[in-house]
Amino acid sequence: MTTRTIAAVAALLALVSGLQAQAQGFHGAPATASASRNPFAHKPQAIAAGAELYTSNCGACHGRNGRGTGNIPALAHGPAQSATDGELFWFITRGDEDNGMPSWKQLPEDDRWKIIAYVKSLAGAHPGAPPREAPSSAAAGQPAPPVSARAPEPNAPFTDYRFETPGRVRKITLRDLPEPYATQSAHNGPEVVARPRDAWPKAPAGFKVELYATGLDNPRTIRTAPNGDLFVAQSDAGLVRVFRGISSEGKPEQSGIFASGLHRPYGIAFYPPGKDPQWLYVGNEDEVVRFPYKPGEMKAGGAPQHIANLPDGSGHSTRDLQFSADGKKLFVGVGSRSNVDDPDTTPAEKHRADILEFNPDGSGLRVYAYGIRNAGGGLGIEPRTGQLWCSVNERDGLGDNLVPDYITHVQEGGFYGWPWWYMGGHQDPRHPGAHPELKEKVITPDVLLPAHNASLNFTFYQGKQFPAEYQGDIFAAEHGSWNKAVRVGYEVIRVPLHQSGHARGEYQEFLTGFVLDNGDVWGRPVGVAVAPDGSLMVTDDGSGSIWRVSYAGK
Ligand code: HEC
Repeated sequence: MTTRTIAAVAALLALVSGLQAQAQGFHGAPATASASRNPFAHKPQAIAAGAELYTSNCGACHGRNGRGTGNIPALAHGPAQSATDGELFWFITRGDEDNGMPSWKQLPEDDRWKIIAYVKSLAGAHPGAPPREAPSSAAAGQPAPPVSARAPEPNAPFTDYRFETPGRVRKITLRDLPEPYATQSAHNGPEVVARPRDAWPKAPAGFKVELYATGLDNPRTIRTAPNGDLFVAQSDAGLVRVFRGISSEGKPEQSGIFASGLHRPYGIAFYPPGKDPQWLYVGNEDEVVRFPYKPGEMKAGGAPQHIANLPDGSGHSTRDLQFSADGKKLFVGVGSRSNVDDPDTTPAEKHRADILEFNPDGSGLRVYAYGIRNAGGGLGIEPRTGQLWCSVNERDGLGDNLVPDYITHVQEGGFYGWPWWYMGGHQDPRHPGAHPELKEKVITPDVLLPAHNASLNFTFYQGKQFPAEYQGDIFAAEHGSWNKAVRVGYEVIRVPLHQSGHARGEYQEFLTGFVLDNGDVWGRPVGVAVAPDGSLMVTDDGSGSIWRVSYAGK
């Protein structure tokens, strides 16, 4: 070979390896990973074994049938289905501890491949498809999840499901925050069980709880239309349903599907604000769309119009929407893709962990507030002050009582810490030395909630039915998480605003009882809305229900 040929070959090799580095696979998997073949692919017996292994090792976090839970990605659809078996093997072997995904290198290789064969067999079990049941852990002869019921009582102000009591007031302050890793990061996802006959949500004395609707696939956000109809986003089913009226048996008088075929719809907003909206906006995972709508319609008046693209591709999938009080701006909550990846070096985090602002026609994209790990679960406009509020899921992996979730009014241009910092000017230990200039900018939210409460949607109580002291207060749904050794959340809380539109840091437990004494979960609140008669409607995607809480008297 001449020197020139050698140089040319070297240049070519450099180019090829450069391209390989660029065309990085799933979660940065190297090209070699992609090439390894799954010895158990499409083998029915291995898939059955993989299903059992999945249930005992993965199901608690990734959900039954791989549909995902909370901020943990689905495996039955999305990026995991586009990845090759080899890439999945590489990723689950390595894990991503900082983002809450354990390494599975302890699991025998064959078992890892069988789980992947099972996960791949779920292709087509897309959102909305009838669930293909994986065996329950009991059926698979696996030991039951650790029973946490005997753990010692947590020190105030922290709590857990065993001590959640309607009416109890709690307040968490910056002084209460433990050091990072004071306790281990828990792996305690809920295996949702059917509601036992005698289990029922518990409300404070004087309130009555009834089952308004059940048998719903994944009811999430609920919003009351100006005419009193109740709109419910069913994310997994890809549709928005409408309920009208309350019969003498406490059931809907009418119901119907407003729109279907949507991509994980969550946010719902009527536009313009006020009595006479012309459009219904829906926050899908990857875009904002809107439907022509007139008050009283139970079916969309036309095809969806595309308004704006939103960042897609795994991670937090809920996109709540809210119009400013004057109707001039649309706010969209977009959660992070990861638990703590650095946006400086992770392009996929662009325009995530933010509250975005648009004009109602989708133009004028701007970051309204940032460093908010996930406000996609809940946005609201406080009626008295017109201020934007949000409900936020904070970080995982730092221990049981860190970092507190929160509910707060949002400062325009405000920085709330993620991922380098958290409230109180604390640096996240996974980003030592990063962005010292932001330390002083981290805003302390109005109301700190137990870490891993998984605070989702909320509403400001404007009904006429509850006692006067409740007027204007926030009711928020706490979905519960996998990252707490003894469960917390799984309830509806009240945040008193003291008839002033401002919170003072305390919250009150309001609707509890979704966790059984042994720690099994049967219900998970997601959305809250006020019905025209003033009762509080609560969606629960654990039991597929809508609960109605009304005030019966002293
Ligand atoms: C303790 C909770 C937990 C358990 C148990 C768990 N995972 Fe994960 N997994 C996560 C989290 C959190 C992520 C998101 C990580 C990220 O953002 O990088 C994840 C990500 C993944 C991804 C990437 C998905 C995507 O769309 O990018 C795959 C694949 C995966 N897990 C497979 C598995 C398998 C298979 C098992 C069982 C052997 C398992 N996981 C067990 C928490 C868990």
